[in-house]
Amino acid sequence: DLEIGAAVAGGGHHQNQDYPPPFYEDEEYRELLATEFTSLTPENQLKWDFVHPAPDEYNFEAADDIVAFAEENGQDVRGHVLIWHSQNPAWLEEGDYTDAELRGILRDHITTVVGRYAGQIDQWEVANEIFDGSGNLRTEENIWLRELGPGIIADAFRWAHEAAPEAELFLNDYGAEGINAKSDAYYQLAQDLLADGVPIHGMGLQAHLGLMYGFDPSLQENLQRFDDLGLATAITELDVRMELPESGEPTPAQIAEQAEWFSSTLEACVAVEGCQSFTLWGASDLYSWVPHTFEGQGSATPWTEDLERKPAYCALQQTL
Ligand code: XIL
Repeated sequence: DLEIGAAVAGGGHHQNQDYPPPFYEDEEYRELLATEFTSLTPENQLKWDFVHPAPDEYNFEAADDIVAFAEENGQDVRGHVLIWHSQNPAWLEEGDYTDAELRGILRDHITTVVGRYAGQIDQWEVANEIFDGSGNLRTEENIWLRELGPGIIADAFRWAHEAAPEAELFLNDYGAEGINAKSDAYYQLAQDLLADGVPIHGMGLQAHLGLMYGFDPSLQENLQRFDDLGLATAITELDVRMELPESGEPTPAQIAEQAEWFSSTLEACVAVEGCQSFTLWGASDLYSWVPHTFEGQGSATPWTEDLERKPAYCALQQTL
């Protein structure tokens, strides 16, 4: 069964600071999350800087609340993330640790966080954005790769598997939707990990798309090649952003094209047997990360700021 998911914005950290934490305070938004989706991904609440703010301190409150909400509503939860170059706390990035200490820190973190939600979070994005656009490992930016070498990837998968033997463990990245240097690097890595008996179960494609970049028609073929390795696949963070005109409102042509892109992405996933999750990175433009991250861009989700459905919503419904 294909899970239809959404990233959950707020508590604590959320993008649009003009509003109170949506997950706690916006009833209409909660209702939308509960009724339109069968899977949830904490947008920020399981990232290192949020969940592990000090060496000996974990902050599980927000993630616990999302997991409880998902349980009430019979939804799955995707865990996001364990190894990443971004949103790490200063104590980690600027700490003066030996290699052995760093290894211990990562192992404890994975054991603690994954173990806490064993049986509740059944998919984890273990390694996020580890390759750059040329298909090289991000060895400079990523503290784990830089200090401990590429073998740490396999270790992270093994530790996560020990902590939650039932959970499916994923690689995940953006810009790897089509067949290109980055997805080739993942395709090779996945085969190497499988050959070494590492517990890896899936490849996640974020799919932060933008109308100005064009839609890559090789998406389905790319999903299929990972599927052929025996891996699950997933669309993990889909949004379709656009350059907004002066008025700040998208044009009808942009809105129509966006609807096509959402449904084309879903079609590709539906066509590939092991594509098990289709997750949107935001369920309303009001809380989307896009306007805060890409200047002049927006309107990236299927719901307007007033939580009205856009043509993208209907296009998705028709494709399902
Ligand atoms: C973004 C969140 O949406 C923002 O709220 C946060 O400020 C930055 O991160 N790839 C990922 C996600 O794997 O974790 C990112 O989420 C978007 C890009």
